[in-house]
Amino acid sequence: MTDLMRPTVYSPVSKWIHWITAILVLGILAGGILMTRMDEGALQDQIFDMHRAFGVVVFALALVRVAARRMLGTPAPDETLSPLERRVSVGVHHSLIALLILMPLIGWLMTSAYRVDVSVFGLFTLPHLMPKSEPIYDALSAAHATLGFLMAGLIAVHGGAAFIHRFIKKDGVMQRMLPARD
Ligand code: HEM
Ligand code: HEM
Repeated sequence: MTDLMRPTVYSPVSKWIHWITAILVLGILAGGILMTRMDEGALQDQIFDMHRAFGVVVFALALVRVAARRMLGTPAPDETLSPLERRVSVGVHHSLIALLILMPLIGWLMTSAYRVDVSVFGLFTLPHLMPKSEPIYDALSAAHATLGFLMAGLIAVHGGAAFIHRFIKKDGVMQRMLPARD
């Protein structure tokens, strides 16, 4: 897409998707780390259910985000960024979007390999993507954990950069993702 055809601001819908996703992903990461380290029981089961169901919501929102980015485009990086900052910022955004799709997919695949149903808030159940297999479950589970920690690191860099722009550099980068002030 040429720069002339690109939007100049994030649309209200893409801002809503960004912030709903951000809140859900932070909760899913915290829940994932907690549920794998706590005692077994009803509370652990509930956190597992919420982790999987909100993970599916994040997956659906990510598909909408990718479709919207492809059809409508996305604003060019802020003019105040250096060429290196632009490359890092776009690279982090693309990696986060890839992980927003990859993490739920791996979660869904490994839950299928373990033969547990993925129920979305009791409203519907996703089909199993593959036959039961313990070795495949083990490999996917390790990938899900490693990529989960990579994602947490990228979010720390991304969120940290946004706060540096807001409170130290005091430029307009954070404002690009906040509600428009008219
Ligand atoms: C502390 C929390 C967060 C803050 C303060 C924040 C802030 C921002 C800001 C200011 C932008 C606009 C950057 C620009 O215009 O160049 C942005 C874009 C973006 N953010 Fe975040 N963010 C946060 C959490 C997250 C999380 C958890 C994710 C995903 C896991 C995420 C994914 C993205 C993506 C993919 C973009 C590119 C634009 C888009 O496709 O919608 N952010 N964020
Ligand atoms: C954005 C989406 C997701 C993120 C960021 C995420 C992140 C994580 C993290 C950090 C853990 C802890 C790993 C560990 O320390 O061992 C975890 C565990 C787990 N996640 Fe996710 N997850 C997501 C989506 C899903 C989905 C959609 C499912 C299932 C449909 C799922 C199923 C599981 C299961 C079953 C575990 C327990 C550990 C295991 O069996 O390997 N996750 N997740």
